[in-house]
Amino acid sequence: MCGIVGYIGDRKASDVLIKGLKRLEYRGYDSAGVALINGSLEVRKRKGKVDHLSKLIAKEGLSGNMGIGHTRWATHGEPNDVNSHPHVSENGKIAVVHNGIIENYSSLKKQLADRGKTFQSQTDTEVIALLLEEIYNSSFEISFEEAIQLTLKQIVGTYGLAIVHTDSPDKIYIARKGSPLLLGIGENEMFIASDASPIVEFTNKVIYLDDGEMATITRDNYKVKTIDDVVLTKEVHELAIGLEEIEKAGYPHFMLKEIFEQPRSIADCMRGRVVKETNSIQLGGIEDVMDELVNARRIVIAACGTSWHSGLVGEYLFEELAKLPVEVEYASEFRYRDPLIGRGDVLLVISQSGETADTLAAMREAKKRGALVLGICNVVGSTISRDTDAGVFTHAGPEIGVASTKAFTAQVVVLTMMALAVGKHKGILKDDDMRMYINELLMLPSKVEYILEHANEPIKKMASLFTYAPNFLYLGRSYNFPVALEGALKLKEISYIHAEGYPAAEMKHGPIALIDEMMPVVVIAATEHTNDKMISNIEEVKARKGRIIAIMNDANSDVKDISDFHISIPTTKDCFSPLLTVIPLQLLSYYIAVNRGCNVDQPRNLAKSVTVE
Ligand code: F6R
Repeated sequence: MCGIVGYIGDRKASDVLIKGLKRLEYRGYDSAGVALINGSLEVRKRKGKVDHLSKLIAKEGLSGNMGIGHTRWATHGEPNDVNSHPHVSENGKIAVVHNGIIENYSSLKKQLADRGKTFQSQTDTEVIALLLEEIYNSSFEISFEEAIQLTLKQIVGTYGLAIVHTDSPDKIYIARKGSPLLLGIGENEMFIASDASPIVEFTNKVIYLDDGEMATITRDNYKVKTIDDVVLTKEVHELAIGLEEIEKAGYPHFMLKEIFEQPRSIADCMRGRVVKETNSIQLGGIEDVMDELVNARRIVIAACGTSWHSGLVGEYLFEELAKLPVEVEYASEFRYRDPLIGRGDVLLVISQSGETADTLAAMREAKKRGALVLGICNVVGSTISRDTDAGVFTHAGPEIGVASTKAFTAQVVVLTMMALAVGKHKGILKDDDMRMYINELLMLPSKVEYILEHANEPIKKMASLFTYAPNFLYLGRSYNFPVALEGALKLKEISYIHAEGYPAAEMKHGPIALIDEMMPVVVIAATEHTNDKMISNIEEVKARKGRIIAIMNDANSDVKDISDFHISIPTTKDCFSPLLTVIPLQLLSYYIAVNRGCNVDQPRNLAKSVTVE
C-alpha cells in the first residue's frame, strides 16, 4: 500500500527521498510528500505521481540533510494535496508519515476536537500528529520518545510510522505494528523504508523492525525498543537483492520485464532444490517439519488474489502427487470464520510480498489454534517469512509491476516441489515417477523461453483486435481452471476490461447466456486428460458465435481447427501445465492494456502490497 522513506546523513535529503519514493511508487501512487527539518519543518506534498512532487521541489527548492517521505494509497479521504502525508501538528513542529489504518481514529478525532484541536485533512493519520503534540506538550517531564509511546498506546489499528520533530532535529523516530519498516545502516548515514527497494543502492545492512517496536535514529546510531520501553538488540541482516533487479533493464514496463524473466526465475526457484543427481527434491526450509507435513490431517492454503490462484493449483498438485487433502481459502474469509483448524493440520500461507494483512491475520489465527504454519513467500525478511514456523522462498527476485507474474509461476513451482517431496516421503511416488517428474520440471524454463520467443509477436498482433472488447470470458478445467481465474484477473486489473474466469463445465450453468459475437472466450485446452471435454465447450461457444482464443498444444490439433485464434505451447505433464499456459495470458493482458493506454505497472486503485484489511 503506502510507502515510507526516510534519510538522515550528509546527502541532500530531498534527493534521497524523491529517489526512494519513486522506487516505492509501485506500492501506492495517489499522492506523495516529504517533510525535512532544516532549522524549521518544511513540508511539500502533491496529489498524483512522485514526479508532481519532484517538480514542486525543483521549483521551490528544499534544503536539509534529514527528512521523511511518503507515497499514499488513499484509505481515509480522497487523494488530494491536503490528505497527502506528511501530516503536521498544529504548532507546525511535528510531522508524521503513516502506513496502515487507525481503527479508533474517529473517536480519537472527536476527543481531540472536543479539546479544541482543528484538523486540516480527512485522514486517520492526522490524529496521530495532533495527539502526539498534545501528549508531548502536556508536561515538561515527558521526552518526545515517551510521548510517542504514550500516543501509540492509545491507538488501535496498524501502523508503520516515521516521525520528525523540530525539537530534535538530529533524530527520526519510527514505530511498527502490522506494517513493515526497515532501517538501512550506512556510513554515518541511516535510511528508513517500508521495503528494501529505496535502500538497496546505498547499503545492504538492514534491521527489520518487528511489531510493537520503535526506534530512534541518528545519522550514526540507532536505538530499538519495544513500545513498552524495553531496550532490544536487533540482528543486522544483509540484503540479498541488487540494484539491477529493481530497474527496468530496457523494457518499457516492469511487468513485461518480469514476464520475460520467468525462464530465469523458474530456474532460480528450482536451483539446488530439484536435484537430478540424487533424483530428489531438497527443500531445506521445510526439512525439519517434513514429518509433520507428511502426516498432516490436511493442508489448508490461505492467500489472496494471484497467490490464492497459485494455491488452487497447489490443491490439484498435493491431491494428485501427495494424496494429501487440501482446502484453499481466501485469507480474508478464513480469519473471520471460526475456522476448524488445529493441531495435526497445516496452514500454508502464500504471499509474494509477505505483508498482505489478510494473509498475516489468517496465519496468526491458525497459529493460535495450534496448526503448523508454513509459508511460501518471495520477499526475504518480510513478516510472513519471519513469523511462519517454516517455509520456502520463491526466489523470483523483486516483483515491481503491480500485476503479479513471475511470483505466480515461482509459487506454483514451489508448490510442485513441495507436493513431489511429500509424495516421495509418503512412498506414493516411486523412483521412476520422481525421475520422470524431475526431468520434465527441469525442462520447464526452456519451454517458457520457447513460448516467449514464439508467442510474443502473435499475441501482440492478436491483442490489437481485442483492445476494445468490453468483456472477456476465460475457461479452463482441472489444473487450468485456476489459470483461467488468473488470466481474467490479469486482464481486469491492468486493462480495466471486465473479465471472468470459470471452470469450463460451469459455463452452461449461467455464463453461457453472455456469449454472442462480441464475447471473446479464452479457452485453455492444454491438459491431455480434459482435452475432449474442452473441445465440446469450444463447440458450445462457437454455436453461440463467441470468438475463441485457444491456448493449446500441438498434441491437440483439433482445437486449432475450431478456434478463431490459437497460441500453441509446448506439451508437458498436465500437472505442470499452468506454468506454461499462464504465460500467453500474461502477455495478452499486457498488450491489451498497453493498447488501451493504461498504466500497466501502476494500475488505478491498486497497490502492490495490501497491508490494510
Ligand atoms: C494480482 C496481485 C494481487 C496479489 C494479492 C496478494 O496481480 O498482485 O492479487 O496477488 O494482493 O498479494 P501477496 O501475494 O503479496 O500476498
